[in-house]
Amino acid sequence: MLTNSIRTSNLAIDLLADSPASTYKKNNVVVVATGGTIAGAGASSTNSASYTAAKIPVDALIDAIPQVQDLANIRWVQALQIASESMTDKELINLARQVNDLAKRSDVNGIVVTHGTDTMEETAFFLSLVIRSDKPIVLVGSMRPGTALSADGPLNLYSAVALASSDTAKGKGVLVMMNDTIFAARDVSKIINIHTNAFVSQWGALGTIVEGKPYWFRESTKRHNSSSEFNIESIEGDSLPLVGIVYGANNMLPQSYLVLQQAGAKAIIHAGTGNGSVADYIVPTLNKLQSEGVQIIRSSHVPQGFVIRNAEQPDDTYGWVVAHDLNPQKTRLLTALALTKTTDAKEIQRMFYEY
Ligand code: DGL
Repeated sequence: MLTNSIRTSNLAIDLLADSPASTYKKNNVVVVATGGTIAGAGASSTNSASYTAAKIPVDALIDAIPQVQDLANIRWVQALQIASESMTDKELINLARQVNDLAKRSDVNGIVVTHGTDTMEETAFFLSLVIRSDKPIVLVGSMRPGTALSADGPLNLYSAVALASSDTAKGKGVLVMMNDTIFAARDVSKIINIHTNAFVSQWGALGTIVEGKPYWFRESTKRHNSSSEFNIESIEGDSLPLVGIVYGANNMLPQSYLVLQQAGAKAIIHAGTGNGSVADYIVPTLNKLQSEGVQIIRSSHVPQGFVIRNAEQPDDTYGWVVAHDLNPQKTRLLTALALTKTTDAKEIQRMFYEY
């Protein structure tokens, strides 16, 4: 095994150039590992839900599926080893810088990011907004640890490498590969926490993979990657403008929003009921916050549909923004990036309709 070091923005990446001499031209794929269940281990093969995430190193994940060597020239890097619920904007920004550095390399044709499924949709969406590259970037995880009966990780990882090494995946945006299905980063969400068919997109998957071959049926109509106005290279430091989320239900408290302002939030995502609905006794608090420079974004915790502007709430009058079809956790990320460019609510609203 040869090791070559690549100095990136903040991290020295020791890539193990491991592919044996190939008999035909294969694309070069780098696997960037971050942890999650796909790197998890349980006490027994019947522990498919009780296990510890982020235990198995990336070289062991790849060694477990030698078949991937037939798909691409594989190199890998252990960027993180954490459960994805523990990702913060600091890890997200540094991961994006690492992926961006790799995407700019002429000897890298595609990138796979192994990741926990809890926040995979957030990382995928963020990368689709800030990485100015059309090279395939594929996020993959698993719902069962590799130690479990019928573990889904090995085939998911094999399919993700197949997808990242496919020229047909160029320009499709950041992709999520789970359960034989190819999803667009902006549309996908985890809706089941215990089964392998955990991920869906309300607008439909982009395609599927069968025996390592991608089959495409649709493309995203939204701005992403090379067409994005955002760029990880324009983000300074390792934090984003603070944006908080408040989950809507009955019996809300104004303090739930005020405490976020006191913490320094520049925007608050109202993860409302229904059409991002706001209780009448909460409206004065949101208007006070908006008047004090805290952007108000109406999202919804209803998994399908999209928030319609000026339906029950007069958004034009209040100067509020609607998140359209993005879920609250993705809304937070787009809002944070928007705030790196503007505090104008109309400009932020444009972004929600374009990305
Ligand atoms: N701790 C969760 C995570 O890392 C496990 C879920 C998974 O990866 O499937 O996201």
